[in-house]
Amino acid sequence: MGTTPAPPGEAVVLLGAHTGEPTAVQLLSDRRGSRAWKLQGPKRAVVLKANNPDGDNARDKAAEMAQEDDHLLRLTAACALSPDYRVSAGTWDGGRWLAVNWIDGTPLWRALTLARGPEGDRASVRPWLAGIARTWTEHLALMHVAGWAHADVQPTNTLVTQGGHAAVIDYALACGPGDGRRVPYQGALTHTTAPELATQILDTPADTHIQAQPSGDIWSLGASLFWCWTGRRPVAYDDDLDRPKKLAAIARGTTTALRDARPWPFPEFEDAITACLAPDPADRPTAKELTTAW
Ligand SMILES: Nc1ncnc2c1ncn2[C@@H]1O[C@H](COP(=O)(O)OP(=O)(O)O)[C@@H](O)[C@H]1O
Ligand SMILES: [Mg+2]
Repeated sequence: MGTTPAPPGEAVVLLGAHTGEPTAVQLLSDRRGSRAWKLQGPKRAVVLKANNPDGDNARDKAAEMAQEDDHLLRLTAACALSPDYRVSAGTWDGGRWLAVNWIDGTPLWRALTLARGPEGDRASVRPWLAGIARTWTEHLALMHVAGWAHADVQPTNTLVTQGGHAAVIDYALACGPGDGRRVPYQGALTHTTAPELATQILDTPADTHIQAQPSGDIWSLGASLFWCWTGRRPVAYDDDLDRPKKLAAIARGTTTALRDARPWPFPEFEDAITACLAPDPADRPTAKELTTAW
């Protein structure tokens, strides 16, 4: 208790070729069986992810780590991801590790703090907010055109860089063409789960894979923007409800009207978010269409 977990030594040694001798190692997150550290060296910084071998689902998490690497390789080959993103991957005595390029950005919720309040209602904030949404949809469009869904589009997996550009991280759960035997996908964060996916999750045995679709990412994108801009999630339910009950509420397809929740008016932005949250996936815009909507 109380000790900060150290990154896998095998990985740190191998990554020295990319970073140089590390000058700082920082634990970024430790949740649901996987951990992430920032390794800063004189040459560059990388993020090292590894499964937690003491977690409840250690084998699944090691398999998920291997799967994320497979996703990164295939997405890069499909030109859906920058070739600079994946750095390296391998095994360690506790399982698997993966390293990606460090992105200097702020998670979406924190990035939108000013925009969420009344003082966000100013001329400079509107194009900045639209730019985040546009660059986010551009990333998703590259994946969708290649036949992939990110499948975990949510505020913590979106970093906003200094220039107001969105970066998408965390490809562990992505669903792509020709996925072979894989860790079954059963949805990601409840609050950003599209209604049709919520229905499928409730109707599918837990060990059975559900193939996430690009249109589900679009709902998640709209839900994330709704949530981080208004401070409220698009489907109102009691926080104490268990996951199946929250999913059932989402599956009904009704969302709070954005005009009742927005901190200040921004009609084009509101219209685009509302279009993303259409209950029928066929009614949602594609990521490509959205790139010019904000
Ligand atoms: N490339 C990156 N650049 C900067 N921070 C990152 C990067 N990848 C991950 N992180 C940070 O580490 C956290 C965990 O990484 P993530 O890939 O989302 O794993 P998981 O959500 O599966 O634990 C992220 O929420 C983010 O704060
Ligand atoms: Mg994540």
